[in-house]
Amino acid sequence: MIKTISAPLTTNKHLARWVEKMADLTQPDTIHWIDGSQAEYDFLCGKLMDVGTFTKLNPDLWPGCFYARSDAKDVARVEERTYICSLSKDNAGPTNNWEDPFVMRRKLKQLFRGCMRGRTMYVLAFSMGPVGSPMSQLGVQLTDSEYAVVNMRIMARVGLPVLAEIDKDIQRVVSCMHSVGAPLLGRQKDVPWPCNDEKYIVHFPETREIWSYGSGYGGNALLGKKCFALRIASNIARDEGWMAEHMLIVGLENPQGQKTYVAAAFPSACGKTNFAMMVTPRGMEGWKVWTVGDDIAWIKPDANGSLRAINPESGFFGVAPGTSAKTNPNAMATLRKNTIFTNVALTPDGGVWWEGMTDIPPAECLDWKGQRWTPEIAKATGATAAHPNGRFTAPASQCPVIDESWESPAGVPISAIIFGGRRSTTMPLVFQAFNWSAGVYSAATMGSETTAAAAGALGKVRRDPMAMLPFCGYHMGDYFRHWIRMQRSLSTTPRVFHVNWFRKSENGKFLWPGFSENMRVLKWIVDRVGGRAQGKETPIGWTPHYEDIYWNGLEFPQAQFDELQRVDRAAWKQEVMGHEELFIALHDHLPPEMIYERELLICRL
Ligand code: GTP
Ligand code: SPV
Ligand code: MN
Repeated sequence: MIKTISAPLTTNKHLARWVEKMADLTQPDTIHWIDGSQAEYDFLCGKLMDVGTFTKLNPDLWPGCFYARSDAKDVARVEERTYICSLSKDNAGPTNNWEDPFVMRRKLKQLFRGCMRGRTMYVLAFSMGPVGSPMSQLGVQLTDSEYAVVNMRIMARVGLPVLAEIDKDIQRVVSCMHSVGAPLLGRQKDVPWPCNDEKYIVHFPETREIWSYGSGYGGNALLGKKCFALRIASNIARDEGWMAEHMLIVGLENPQGQKTYVAAAFPSACGKTNFAMMVTPRGMEGWKVWTVGDDIAWIKPDANGSLRAINPESGFFGVAPGTSAKTNPNAMATLRKNTIFTNVALTPDGGVWWEGMTDIPPAECLDWKGQRWTPEIAKATGATAAHPNGRFTAPASQCPVIDESWESPAGVPISAIIFGGRRSTTMPLVFQAFNWSAGVYSAATMGSETTAAAAGALGKVRRDPMAMLPFCGYHMGDYFRHWIRMQRSLSTTPRVFHVNWFRKSENGKFLWPGFSENMRVLKWIVDRVGGRAQGKETPIGWTPHYEDIYWNGLEFPQAQFDELQRVDRAAWKQEVMGHEELFIALHDHLPPEMIYERELLICRL
């Protein structure tokens, strides 16, 4: 029996009835409608401190910040437990796990029955995108995780203003069920990170529903993010003629004060947050990058046939390891206050640390598992202080270079789209696709070495089309077709580029310094868009000559640049074989343009 029910903060009958029905199923002790206030946030953080999920960090060093450690088995997205349950298996395609929706619903009912016993069910209304923007979408997440609620409050617009939108009853609302799958029976004591070994991250694209069970971590639990803003939204976008993409959005301002916005898709843990907040390198004074978003872009043609994009999120859920005052000072400034840190190390002075944050590690700390860690222990055992997928959740508004238009309801104009994987060989630093369809081909066949953002093997090259392999909510072949077709609704097609910051020399060193130096590549891209930069034709696309890159302030020998840009025909023939593997899997849905483009590429090679 439900002991306490706070009054529903809605006049929307569908919503109130659904909440009742789900409470009947999951049997929480209490129902709490989230209003989104600071007082409520503080109350929930207090509750998280009481059970030991949160540790308050030293307020002199890290004001308003909290520290959390997850269960050691709940540290990343679980792709093999992620399902697209469309009515027909064919609609999910070979790159998604599929289960018959009727069978899956039965399974979920069973899992969710009584799963919130002893806990509170939070009713969390959220808007992806600024409240009231014509490009925004609404959702309601029911969850028994305070951790999910407080993270979502940073990542999305939540509470009363969103409920007011829902009460207008104009827009469809995506229903999102979430439980950590750890009911508290009798007098059972809670643990700091409740979760369940059995995990299900399930999407029903036709009914626009999400059901997530067993995990409290990141994309598994913050359902507005990957589940809604990519997997469900990609379905909505296909139906409505727009695009939901795993992309950052930045504006590059030139010394004359003109700004050009671009969107860029890199797979998980391949540099989006860093690129989105890039600082000006030495020698490029006067140039400046402004951040609109770091992970997801919703892109729509406007009435004039130009693409405009919004960032549907309001926070950054960023990879901590490798983030430092040297590599990403803007991220460091963003996460200085009001931030939640998960699975990094806790220092004796009540601060946080992770590999790469400082050159000299702390003499001792508690690692992400809560065990004593010292540089000596690390040397002996190889243990890292932070988990490689340790993350910070920080409000976007705190970013020192947040763009003035980042919450503009109409979005920002997009002039170029960049794709990039993590490749130690074959892929040059940058090339421009010959045209839209060649660009779609290069994006569709993008390969990247796997990272810690997902559970599983590390460093294996896999095809990750448009950086959307784990996030496209329907058949990948149809998704390529949608990309090809988008051109028809555009009067000016954005130019398409491919980058790779991760090419290595024979002795295993990165050939390119990366980070802020990437602004030189971005400048070439923006100059190409503006018709101001030269390039030379290669079999794979247009590439810059050495002198086309702005080198002021950076010693970079031409020989090294040539190695970085080298198009090795033998390696590229191997590469095309890799494309084949993906195409064979998708063949019955593959748009003919992909076949033509492959033929053209083979001929040029
Ligand atoms: P998700 O949040 O998982 O989508 O990741 P992301 O794409 O935002 O990646 P992020 O910017 O957090 O970078 C991930 C890792 O790549 C970090 O360890 C960075 O230090 C590293 N990285 C980012 N940019 C560069 C670069 O230009 N060169 C090199 N060598 N490493 C980079
Ligand atoms: C990613 O893996 O691409 C992320 C982190 O941005 S998560 O929100 O966990 O998906
Ligand atoms: Mn991401």
